[in-house]
Amino acid sequence: MRIVVINGPNLNLIGTRSPEIYGSTSLEELDDLCRSWAADVGTDVDTYQSNHEGDLIDRLHAARDADGVVINPGAFTHYSYAIRDAIEAIGIPTVEIHISNVRDREPWRRISVVSDVCVTTIFGRGIVGYRHAIRHLVARAAWPVETITYGPDSDNVGDLRIPHGPGPHPVAVLLHGGFWRATAARDLLDSVAVVLTGHGWATWNVEFSRVGSGGGWRATTADVATAVSSLAQFAEGHELDLERVIAVGHGSGGHLALQAAVGARDPRISAVAALAPIGDLEAAHRAGIGSDAVDAFTRRTPEQSPERYAAASPIKNLPIGVPLLVVHGDEDDQVPAAISRSFAGRAADEGDTVVYHEFEGVGHDDLVDPATPAWAKIVEEIDRLR
Ligand code: DQA
Repeated sequence: MRIVVINGPNLNLIGTRSPEIYGSTSLEELDDLCRSWAADVGTDVDTYQSNHEGDLIDRLHAARDADGVVINPGAFTHYSYAIRDAIEAIGIPTVEIHISNVRDREPWRRISVVSDVCVTTIFGRGIVGYRHAIRHLVARAAWPVETITYGPDSDNVGDLRIPHGPGPHPVAVLLHGGFWRATAARDLLDSVAVVLTGHGWATWNVEFSRVGSGGGWRATTADVATAVSSLAQFAEGHELDLERVIAVGHGSGGHLALQAAVGARDPRISAVAALAPIGDLEAAHRAGIGSDAVDAFTRRTPEQSPERYAAASPIKNLPIGVPLLVVHGDEDDQVPAAISRSFAGRAADEGDTVVYHEFEGVGHDDLVDPATPAWAKIVEEIDRLR
């Protein structure tokens, strides 16, 4: 597989250009990183940068024989229909990427004329977003995906992957983490989706509104509920087994997975795999995790609205009522393992069937990286939920 990484105007200056926005990595270092991130997933990368619109268009045309393109069009993003048309014309899966959070800066940076011809847009994750972009293209190539719209908002979409062999297939609804913030998106669970689909699960890797894209505790939870119930609309055509639907969530997505099981109607979620979940919003609020992510999500402190925390926090909704797999790494520096330890204990006390594993020497993102040793155990346990 060969991917072309293209950077547009002024990106030759990163490292020294507004480091508080773009960081301290130079373009040369970024290109090296892209090569090594690609090598990690068995892929070759060609890199290119230009400050000139026509040159960028020529490079896109020359990428016609590549398997994927990652492009940061810089300021051209906001007005170059010529670059947009070039991306459309070559017809190669293209990821739009921005280092900064373009949705949280000047209003004109929120406009992208290229998004609609790109397979996804990654923004606001810093340099590591390029790694995610490369991995997204690799995951798309590894297992075909059908992107399905489940509601009226642009975030109401999900990627469906169907396993080989005859159905009906059990379904894993995947809920990504990232502290419910708009800079995180479902591409973070692409590799998990590919591995689980290989294990015979139909995977429904869903997007939902997040903080910064119209989400918050009520809207986000409602989107997840709609994403789950929408399975009924395409179950037949894809041979999905709606008696066996599990929710798999990571971090804040673990919170959403547990809450989805509490509130699920039709189809009912039959089990939850919660990977480093935020199972206790009050404890997470007190710990200030994710730069006060809980406050941004709930828009209230527990003192201001005990009712909101009672409704939105999984530990306040026990028993969840379905088998639970809870896993956490003891070196998680984003969501403390102590939260899962007490959540799992309390859930068991309240009558839930809980399997809890705490992995030694494992961090937060390791739990969704199929290349790490913990993953083999996780997938074995998820398979048991079938
Ligand atoms: C950028 C954001 C653009 O608005 C800006 O013009 C850039 C870089 C980013 O990577 O965040 O040059 O694309």
